[in-house]
This record gives sequence, structure tokens and C-alpha cells, in this order.
Amino acid sequence: MKILLTGANGQLGRCFQDRLPEGWQIEALGSAELDISNASQVEAVIAAWKPDAIVNAGAYTGVDKAESEPEVAARVNTQGPKNLALAARAIGAKLIHVSTDYVFDGQGTQPYLETDPTAPLGVYGKTKLDGEHAVQSVLPDAAIIRTAWVFSEYGNNFVKTMVKLSEKRDALGIVSDQRGCPTYAGDLATAIIKLLEQDAAGGIYHYGGSREVSWFEFADRIFDVAVSQGRIEKKPALSAVTTEQYPTPAKRPAYSVLDGKKIKALGISLSDWDKALTEIINKF
Ligand SMILES: NC(=O)c1ccc[n+]([C@@H]2O[C@H](COP(=O)([O-])OP(=O)(O)OC[C@H]3O[C@@H](n4cnc5c(N)ncnc54)[C@H](OP(=O)(O)O)[C@@H]3O)[C@@H](O)[C@H]2O)c1
Repeated sequence: MKILLTGANGQLGRCFQDRLPEGWQIEALGSAELDISNASQVEAVIAAWKPDAIVNAGAYTGVDKAESEPEVAARVNTQGPKNLALAARAIGAKLIHVSTDYVFDGQGTQPYLETDPTAPLGVYGKTKLDGEHAVQSVLPDAAIIRTAWVFSEYGNNFVKTMVKLSEKRDALGIVSDQRGCPTYAGDLATAIIKLLEQDAAGGIYHYGGSREVSWFEFADRIFDVAVSQGRIEKKPALSAVTTEQYPTPAKRPAYSVLDGKKIKALGISLSDWDKALTEIINKF
């Protein structure tokens, strides 16, 4: 299998490269080597490398910043995947594109199915949803994986932020009225590899953690693991705050639990985020 990986230096990109099966060839390109929003560059790189499959781990992921940079976010999250789909179609390659729980408004009370109506609350979610539509219109066989609350030993994420904050502060207020399923980027990478190995049908798949929590509960667990493994000396005092008490430029969905039964039916396990947490807490 010959893979072209975009966004190679992000959390998913790095974890994907770490798990590449033996015998697979990969061209792993960061944004400096391949800017997915640049149509002619995308076309030239893909035509030259002729991959069997393209895995798009590149995205504009600054949820708050996107509110003030909607054009940049759209270029990367909407035009970027469209460029990849066009180039994939031209050479008959598969495309695996990654999207987000932020396509939903979070007003639901049951885990979201792939078929549930979308209604993004902010620019990031809207540009990612437009990216899904662009991919589907060019390449209906593409697989689109929506994921959520991604963390890993690489890059910036909630786990790393919590650990760093605890080194400076004795007490922290954490949002307790948003619920979701943390997802370890390594597990997501494994799921993508399994989809490729199975030559799975195109369409949308939901992939996230196997257990839902609030940010408060997630932070509480992060600190327990960090203390038990000697990563930090002392657990900070945690207090629950509401979304209203912690305003951000972009609105977040209150409930963003993704239902993973479709991907599970292919024999692909959801992310065991708690296990992953214990494995990575000392790696960054
Ligand atoms: N992180 C989350 O909590 C989360 C939640 C739901 C869904 N997702 C989705 O999951 C996927 C992977 O996210 P992640 O957490 O791995 O993100 P990440 O760590 O922020 O990595 C994204 C990567 O995309 C690259 N990128 C930015 N603009 C690009 C461009 N024009 N061309 C090519 N690459 C570009 C970035 O490179 P530079 O650093 O050089 O800009 C970065 O390395 C994304 O599709 C994201 O939308 C993430």
C-alpha cells in the first residue's frame, strides 16, 4: 500500500506514521511541503507520487482563531479536502478524510449517528462540514471519519494543557457542562489503517472514545493518572465551572458524543482513552 499523508506533523499525522504497517510505503508531508489549499501543488504532488490512498490529517484546527480568520479556515478545511478529492479521483486513489463532532450543535441527548442532521455553531465546524460536502460531491467513495476531543503525546491538546497548568496553579476551574468522548490520536490512526486494510466502503464514520465524560471528569482522571505515575507531584483543587462562566470566541457543542456503532460493526474498536492516557502521560 502506497500512502500519501498530509498534515504529517499534527497529532494524527505523527501517530499515523508511528503505526504504519510493515511493507507500506508512505510519503508524509507537513504543511510546509504540501499546502492542501494549493490546488496545483496538490495535483502535482499526487500525480507524481501516485498513491493508492490519501490520508488527510491536515486541517485548520484553531477553533477560536477561526472566528476571526474565516477565509483562512475555509481555504484549509473546505478547499483543501476538495483539492485532495479532485486529485484522488484523477488517479483513482482512495481518500480518507477526517472531520469533527463540531458539525453538530450539541443540543442532542443521545450519541450522534452519522445520519443525524448537522448544524455547526461556529466557523471551524462550518468549514469542516463544507469540507465534507465538497469531498462527497467530488468523490462519493471517500471515507470521512468524524472524531472528537483528540489528544496524544504530540502537539497541543487538553491533556498537555492540564498537566502544564497544574505545574503553575494549585486550583483550576474546569467546564463541567460539556460532554464528549476523548479520542487518542493513536487509536484513530489504527482505525484508519484498519479501514484501509479492509478496503472499507466510503461514507461517513463516527470514531471516538468508548466512554463519555465532561471536561471536568476528564481533567480529574488526567490528574489522578499524572499523580499516580509521578508526572506531577500534587493534584490541583478542581472546581466545576459552566460554559457561561468560561466564555470563548467560538461556541462549543454542549453534547458531542459520537455513536461509533457503524465503525464497530467493521470490527474496529473505539478509542480506549483511559488506557492511552496511562501510556502517554510521561511521554510529553
Ligand atoms: N484536535 C481535536 O480535538 C480534533 C477534534 C475533532 C476533529 N479533529 C480533526 O482531526 C484531524 C486531525 O487533527 P489533529 O488534532 O491531528 O490536528 P493538529 O495536531 O492541529 O494537526 C493539524 C495539522 O494540519 C496541518 N495543516 C494546517 N494547515 C495546513 C495546510 N494548508 N496544508 C496541509 N496541512 C496543514 C498543521 O500544520 P502546521 O502546524 O504546519 O500548520 C498541523 O500539523 C483534523 O481534521 C481535525 O479537524 C480534531
